[in-house]
Amino acid sequence: MGKNIAIIGVGAVGLEIVRVLRERNFPVDNLKLFARSSRKIEFEGQAYDVEAIADENFDGIDIALFAGTEGAKGASVQYADKFIKKGAVVIDNGNDFRLKDDVPLVVPEINKDKIAIHKGLIANPNCTTIQAVVALGGIHRRFGLRQFVLTSFQATSGAGKQAAISLWNETKQIAQKNKDKDFDSLDKKIDGAPECFSSQIAFNVSPQIGSFREDGFTSEEWKVVNETHKILGDDSIKISATCVRVPVFTSHCEAIYFTVKEDASLEDIEETLSESEGVKYLKDELCFPLDAEGKDEVFVARLRKDPFNDKSFWLWCVADNLRKGAALNAVQIAEGLL
Ligand SMILES: NC(=O)c1ccc[n+]([C@@H]2O[C@H](COP(=O)([O-])OP(=O)(O)OC[C@H]3O[C@@H](n4cnc5c(N)ncnc54)[C@H](OP(=O)(O)O)[C@@H]3O)[C@@H](O)[C@H]2O)c1
Repeated sequence: MGKNIAIIGVGAVGLEIVRVLRERNFPVDNLKLFARSSRKIEFEGQAYDVEAIADENFDGIDIALFAGTEGAKGASVQYADKFIKKGAVVIDNGNDFRLKDDVPLVVPEINKDKIAIHKGLIANPNCTTIQAVVALGGIHRRFGLRQFVLTSFQATSGAGKQAAISLWNETKQIAQKNKDKDFDSLDKKIDGAPECFSSQIAFNVSPQIGSFREDGFTSEEWKVVNETHKILGDDSIKISATCVRVPVFTSHCEAIYFTVKEDASLEDIEETLSESEGVKYLKDELCFPLDAEGKDEVFVARLRKDPFNDKSFWLWCVADNLRKGAALNAVQIAEGLL
């Protein structure tokens, strides 16, 4: 029997959820799309009515997948409870409920057993966390993670559709104004203020994702720490992150330096990665954001043993932030509910 599904938010993640539901033949009886305003949209050759979310339209939904904005005026803070009261299970992509004690934070490859203990709401972790725990989860299970240090290289679509469009607009503006110039006289800066990020993102890199805290880390960097502890069920892992925005449309990359507790050879780690659910381990190949786009797996490459520190290794991982980092993970949780 099919389910009545609501998707709240039709931006980068919301539409990816529509695509993933369709690709995976999720049993949908009725699909309702909501956003702040009503409109008709076309997506992959199919027309959809988007309804403005309002107090009267929460009835008859089995699963509500939230892909709206976060915070007090965000979609899930305002409306998740209303769907739950009408009998729906909510799966939320945002940050608002992830660390609450009674909310399971689920990456199905790692802790799908937690789906069963929900009380109406299940949280999807942050995209940066999801790919890290998929890559490291099997290693943690087998050898125990003592610590990891992660540097991310995050795509613009991680900040929403408009952010990816702003990369394109900035790139076009710079190309346009330099079209008759030679390399030595290029004007590499945009005119005016950046549309979406705190600094220009075209031909640039920004060491700030989220807001700065007193300790100098950003909110995005603390998400990696706190969410990983919760998903792996182990607060003793020492985790430190630097999150960086790069001029890429889709797919985040991460360089991760990790230390395990038990003795492990390079071959042991390779074997574990090859067997880890959701991981595509590439022994002699590289992986790039452009290749990961549209794919389900977390690609892991460049595994190296630290020549100076025992039980310590580097890896490079890449995943589509809109798919495994958001929509696919949410749909896998919904499949778990079935
Ligand atoms: N992008 C990623 O890689 C990624 C990864 C993991 C998690 N997430 C999380 O997923 C959520 C969606 O991200 P996104 O990248 O898809 O954002 P987006 O492209 O900016 O789209 C946001 C959508 O949510 C709708 N919306 C916003 N506030 C709403 C409200 N109060 N009520 C109803 N609808 C509302 C917007 O409606 P209108 O179209 O009417 O304005 C828009 O359709 C965010 O919480 C984000 O943090 C994103």
